[in-house]
Amino acid sequence: MPNRVICLLLRSLFAAVAFVSAERAALRADAPVRERLSLDADWRFAREADGAGQGLAYADLKPWILPARNAFLASAADRLGRPGADFPSVPGWADPAFDDHSWRALNLPHDWGVEGPFKAEYRGDTGRLPFWGVAWYRKHFALGAEDQGRRLTLEIDGAMSHASVWLNGHLAGGWPYGYASFAVDLTPYARPGADNLLAIRLDNPPESSRWYPGGGIYRNVWLVKTTPIHVGHWGTDLATPQISSDQATVALKVTVDNDSSAPADVTVATDIYELGVSGQKDGEAVASGPAVPLHLAAGGSGVAPARITVGHPMLWSIHSPYRYVAVTTVAQNQQMLDRYETPFGIRSIAFDPNRGFLLNGQVVKLQGVCDHHDLGALGSAVSVRALERQLEELQEMGCNAIRTSHNPPAPELLDLCDRMGFVVMDEAFDCWLIPKRANDYHLLFADWHEADLRAQIRRDRNHPCVVMWSIGNEIPEQKDASGIVIGRELQSIVHDEDPTRPVTSAANNPDSGVNGFEQVVDVFGINYRAQNYAPYHASHPQKMVFGSETESVVSSRGVYMFPVVADKAQGRTADFQVSSYDFYAPKWAWPPDREFEAEERDPYVAGEFVWTGWDYLGEPTPFGNAGDPARSSYFGIIDLAGFKKDRFYLYQAHWRPDLPMVHLLPHWTWPERAGQVTPVFAYTSGDEAELFLNGQSLGRRKKEPFTYRLRWDDVVYQPGELKVIAYKDGQHWAEDMQRTAGEPAKIGLQADRIVLAADGRDLAFVTASITDANGVLAPRAHNHLSFAVAGPAEIVAVDNGDATSFEPFQATQHDAFNGLALVIVRTLPNQAGAITITATGAGLGAGQVEVRSVVSDP
Ligand code: GAL
Repeated sequence: MPNRVICLLLRSLFAAVAFVSAERAALRADAPVRERLSLDADWRFAREADGAGQGLAYADLKPWILPARNAFLASAADRLGRPGADFPSVPGWADPAFDDHSWRALNLPHDWGVEGPFKAEYRGDTGRLPFWGVAWYRKHFALGAEDQGRRLTLEIDGAMSHASVWLNGHLAGGWPYGYASFAVDLTPYARPGADNLLAIRLDNPPESSRWYPGGGIYRNVWLVKTTPIHVGHWGTDLATPQISSDQATVALKVTVDNDSSAPADVTVATDIYELGVSGQKDGEAVASGPAVPLHLAAGGSGVAPARITVGHPMLWSIHSPYRYVAVTTVAQNQQMLDRYETPFGIRSIAFDPNRGFLLNGQVVKLQGVCDHHDLGALGSAVSVRALERQLEELQEMGCNAIRTSHNPPAPELLDLCDRMGFVVMDEAFDCWLIPKRANDYHLLFADWHEADLRAQIRRDRNHPCVVMWSIGNEIPEQKDASGIVIGRELQSIVHDEDPTRPVTSAANNPDSGVNGFEQVVDVFGINYRAQNYAPYHASHPQKMVFGSETESVVSSRGVYMFPVVADKAQGRTADFQVSSYDFYAPKWAWPPDREFEAEERDPYVAGEFVWTGWDYLGEPTPFGNAGDPARSSYFGIIDLAGFKKDRFYLYQAHWRPDLPMVHLLPHWTWPERAGQVTPVFAYTSGDEAELFLNGQSLGRRKKEPFTYRLRWDDVVYQPGELKVIAYKDGQHWAEDMQRTAGEPAKIGLQADRIVLAADGRDLAFVTASITDANGVLAPRAHNHLSFAVAGPAEIVAVDNGDATSFEPFQATQHDAFNGLALVIVRTLPNQAGAITITATGAGLGAGQVEVRSVVSDP
């Protein structure tokens, strides 16, 4: 067809779309039809340990909270009503009249555990931090007279844990699983035109986790106001079943709830717009669906299906994460009742037993990492910028996939993965009925697994980044028949909620690939057993296999131990650090090289998820024993403060073969090693490299098949300049250098971003580097630094990436660790201006950096 005809056709199609969406825009809306307001500001907080106990237990509250599951239970017989109209007594701290002015004032998100202090007698696996206990959050807020007759819903993205929600003294609802997002209908107890008091009680048990869970309302909280007839909670379900270069079909199901006492006839219609990089709608609608009539019984719900064709779709992919938004309107007699936005991407996924994971028909090797939810010195309190920084560093390494080990993530993480181009293995549980810790999820599983799993899928299903659902990590039941029974039930829940993505799990038991457990997943994830890929593939030629958890190498940034022995059980220093030559790992684990080789030999393996991308609070293996002075992991490729360990470059070399790079280790400041053998490694995306010490060649090395690092094992240390030149296909490719540093003399400060949003949430991550007089990093400097900030910002935390440090995070001073320290600075709301951050240290003078805080247009 000639181009002109195509243009004309497209133009007339576009005119028709514009006409339909303009008609929809003309719908009357007398009041804002949907508002989603942040409720994060101005809370009061108290721990029960600090005041009178309120005498409640989850067992007392449970009959009142169980009805929260009802919307997520398939069988009507399982749905329970409340035991009575209202909870029989009002705890004093839920009473609107209670005077809370002496309570601590704070904003959400908040994690009380990270406030510390660290204590060696606390468990290592949970970060030697006090995350447990009962605490209350109270907030007064006004509702306008115009809110009379509106539906008021509280949305809590995550509260750790066993939340009960009280409004104006009435128990309105709650949810026990601390990683779940949930909604509470406030309408029956709300007082429009008056002050309202929200009180949220959390009850976080000790010994409930294998890692640091945090404690508190650690994610965002929203008040959603709608008309009584509205799109249901997580009420859109969108898929893109047919895609060609000419057009894509968007299949949408919209659930509409009628919470009014009269039946209603409505129409439901959807327009599709392109979404810009920062999430704004771009231009006119690019496609529109018909207005679908829907009859709703009083108090009932209905589903409006639609199939909408998008012409010449821009596909969502890792390198070009192109997004659209479906804007759905619900109308009655020309009156708009609701308007609901569903961001999405157009993409196809496939899981091929011989080729691996396919995105839009192309093989994409999963270059993934597992990460826990905490954000280092910020604890579990969610921060978009902190998550974004994590993903930016991972992307720089070549990472393209995230496993949300071992729980549903913050919704903001999935938004970022959509926007930045990561695929996600979205995981539900770390255990089912068999416990891993005395008070973990096994106590909730029987009552809550169906609701938790369905809720997670409904919340996350429209994200293009989510490509598979994991029903569990290293579930002990995988070894026996009960694992098959429970696994089958979970698999059918997932299939029922989402027929477009496969079920998986992270299996560590070798028998689980042959004992029938493998039948309860659609794609098979193996933890730490690269040797099992081939036999599994041979016996299950119809199922894709991948490394759901790999490596678990341990190291401390900038620590090196001699002699260098390639024995994974070695490499520990007497002061609870682990050598960074990247050989060292617990007994179930392996260096990266082994996984690289396995995947090269067995190209049908879809890829891997390394344990872990970032260090995390808790699980300080190999120093997790009682009393060991270690509180955070050594597994990370990036340390807890966000500083890259050497391993970062081993992955980058393998995962980004086209990026010219070479990285040398160790550092070259060893005054006590003159004349001693000090092995040197280079990680490069090239295929050869030559090493020079003070200008003298120490030889050119070539990567042999299935080797991933270049080694000069017998270098004799002399101070000076160590330099490497890498080659690829015989051509110069990249260089790196290590120079011997003199005494620590100066501090250099560097901010990750110069322009920040003046929204009270944005963060600057400022790195302090201790250098000698010539600006060479002093790689063993541990000087104590003090930080100060001038301008519209505050210091929220400090860190240095040292897993053995018990210094508080919430402070304005910290020791450096191997030359580096981090200060995290937060802007103040609506206060623009220059922000100067200063670091000082004895004998080091002061280092300074300036950033700017900017108020954005509304
Ligand atoms: C795995 C487990 C992870 C973490 C890791 C440490 O077996 O799934 O949660 O504990 O070991 O190596």
